[in-house]
Order: sequence, then structure tokens, then C-alpha cells
Amino acid sequence: MSVHEAYIPRAESVTTADLITNFLRNPGGGRIVVEGDQGVGKTTFVNFHRQCWEKAAKHKLLSPALELEMQSNWDERGLLINLLASLSSRIRLEMNNKSFVKEELLHEITALVGVNIEDTGGFNATLSILGTGAGVGRTQGKAVIVGEVTNDLLRQYFRRLVSFVLRRGYSGVIFHLDNLDKLGVREPENLKTFFESVRDILQEPGVYFIFVGNTGLFQKVIVPLPRVRSIFFDTPIHLEPLSLTEVKMVMDRRYHLLVAPGKKWIVPVTTEVVENLYTIFEGKIRYIMNSITSLISHLPDSYAQPLTIIQAMSLLQGIAISEMKRVLKGAEQEVFLLAAKLNCFTNSELGTHSRKSKQLIQKYLKNWLSLNLVSRAEKTGRNQFYKVEPRFAVLRER
Ligand SMILES: Nc1ncnc2c1ncn2[C@@H]1O[C@H](COP(=O)(O)OP(=O)(O)OP(=O)(O)O)[C@@H](O)[C@H]1O
Ligand SMILES: [Mg+2]
Repeated sequence: MSVHEAYIPRAESVTTADLITNFLRNPGGGRIVVEGDQGVGKTTFVNFHRQCWEKAAKHKLLSPALELEMQSNWDERGLLINLLASLSSRIRLEMNNKSFVKEELLHEITALVGVNIEDTGGFNATLSILGTGAGVGRTQGKAVIVGEVTNDLLRQYFRRLVSFVLRRGYSGVIFHLDNLDKLGVREPENLKTFFESVRDILQEPGVYFIFVGNTGLFQKVIVPLPRVRSIFFDTPIHLEPLSLTEVKMVMDRRYHLLVAPGKKWIVPVTTEVVENLYTIFEGKIRYIMNSITSLISHLPDSYAQPLTIIQAMSLLQGIAISEMKRVLKGAEQEVFLLAAKLNCFTNSELGTHSRKSKQLIQKYLKNWLSLNLVSRAEKTGRNQFYKVEPRFAVLRER
């Protein structure tokens, strides 16, 4: 499904759409952060906007097909290799093989990021690029002999590749770097080193960097680094959850796009179910749609009626409970159900409610964290809060 067909513009966001449009319209490149809670539609928002600029009549901006997932172990080299690999494979998509191979520059870059995978560290980039089907692959024909490649040389390639794109009639390049959070888990000192070392790359003329992350990331990651902050757009673009009407529109649009032509069809769930899920998941569309997908995959083939709220909720609770039972045993299950009811809690709160010792709760928490059943939330003073993963929110109403 193309983002263009499936996208519903965010009404809250005359301003958010304006902000990103103004940012990208501004000649010469720039750096901005887009943030919001989990699953509210950040990645989609950025994908939609960068696709718009590829088709723009004037001031066309080229962008790699997919967003780049930032990795916690990225350094300058990791970043450069990812930028080079994703941009060169994007260029390849619009050139035939023959002319691609004829371009010395592209040939060399492909050899660097596509062939010599084993030679140097940090090349997981290439694997993920291959996985997306964008296809860096091997260069054809000539073999390029690659010696030890310095970061300096990679930076030069980056600059030349961007100029190459500009010569082909584009006004710039957009890089969409998703999950800035992953870098946030680093020690402040390492984070600082990373940003200081990539500061020049981020200022390459004609390049627009859009960093996407959770609410509060700009404050946590960028603001404490004055030299880095000074090259960023002053404020992050903050995305709120879509409204209930918008969520309904997204789903309706999808039903129509996906329906088999000429067949009769029914919606999978009633409107009440969507409304209830909207409340349970606080508007986070990812979780709302995942629940519906999960309901559909648990329906018998012959079932041909929209699920009512009672059916849907008991089915969803059943699914969540069996997921929990697969990984937790005995008493731990009961304590987890309590945790799901509390949603956000500290060790001692859960201990009080379940009448279990602090040590036992600690042991459970460690296990749940490793199983991704809960995640760490905010810390106030010495109190560490934990949050149950949103997909278990359906258990709260039991
Ligand atoms: N405006 C929109 N129009 C149509 N579909 C949307 C819109 N916003 C989000 N979606 C859909 O909602 C789902 C979740 O969105 P997305 O992945 O962009 O959220 P996210 O905020 O990036 O999540 P995460 O925090 O997990 O990275 C996707 O399937 C996406 O297609
Ligand atoms: Mg995302």
C-alpha cells in the first residue's frame, strides 16, 4: 500500500505539517527532530512528507526508500556507511544497471558498502539495506580493490555522492533517521562524542536530516549539547495521537484500498470496538490496528459478521493471557495480571498490592524486562516506575 494513498493528513497538525514543510523548503539543508509517543504515527508522518518532496515540481528532494534505524553502537563510521549505502541504492533504483556501473563514483561506493562486508567493522548497515530489497549487492563486471578505508575518505565519498544527486536535478537529499532513542541509552559522554564527531556530516550543504524519537528526546539528547543544539532547528516537531475521527478514517481508507474487487465485504469489528480500543490505547494507532489484525487472525474462516465489543474484548484478553502464559509460570502470572491492572507502578507499589517481597518483585521485573513485557518509565527521585507494554492494556478492563 502506498503511503500516499493510505495517508490521512493530521488535522491537529496544520502546524506540524507546516513546520516540516517550511523546514524542507528552506534551501541548503538542515536538521530537525520529530518526536511523539510510541505508535502515534511518527515514522509514517515523515515518510509521507519526504515522498511529497520527491515528486515536487520545484525543489525536488531525493530520499532513500526506507528510513534508517539508528543503532546504539553507531559511531561516525557507522553513520557514514549507512548514509552512503542507502543513498547509493536509492540512486540505483532510478538508473539502469549499465549506467550505474559506468559511473565510477557509484561503482566505488557500491564496492565499499556492498562487497567488502567482512573487511571492516560496522557493516551491519549493508545487511539491513539488502534486507529491504533496495539492493546494493555486488558491483558487476569490474572488481574494485578496496584498501583500508579511512573515515576521511568516507566523508569525501559522502560529499561527492550528494553533489552527484544535486547534478541530477535535485535540490537536496533527505535522510530519515528513525529511533534516535537507541542512542539515548548511551552514557552522556558517549553521546556527546558521537554528535561532536558527526557535526560536520550533519552540516553537509543540501542535506536535510530528520531525526525521529520518543517524546522528550530533543530535551534529553540534543539540548544538553550546546554545539550540537546550535545546528538544529530550535524546537522539535511534536506529534500528538490522531483523533478518533482520524483513526476511523485511516481504517476506512485501508478497508477500501485492500478490498478484493467485485467481492462483498464486511468490516471486521463494529465502531464501538474501535472506540473502545482508542480509549484503552490512548489513541495510539499502531496498537489499535495491531489489535484488530490480531482479532482477524484468530477468527475461524467461516465467520462473517463484524465482531461486537463483548466478543472482541474477550478474544483480545484471551490472546493476551495466552501470550503471558506461554512465558510466565504460576504465581508470577498472578502478579503480572496485577501489574497490568496498575499499568504504571514502582517495585514497592506492586509489592504492596501483591503482598510479595521486594526481592521477589525485583526478580520478576528483571524477567519481564528481558521478555519485553514491561519497560522502564520515568524515574522520580529514587522511585523507578515501570510500564506494562501497551498490548497488555486490554487486561486492565478484566
Ligand atoms: N496519518 C496517518 N494516515 C494513515 N495511517 C497512519 C497515519 N499515521 C499512522 N498510520 C499508521 O499507523 C501505524 C503506526 O504508525 P507509525 O509506525 O508511523 O508510528 P510510530 O510513531 O513511528 O511508532 P513507533 O513509536 O513504534 O516507532 C502504521 O501502520 C501507519 O501506517
Ligand atoms: Mg516509528
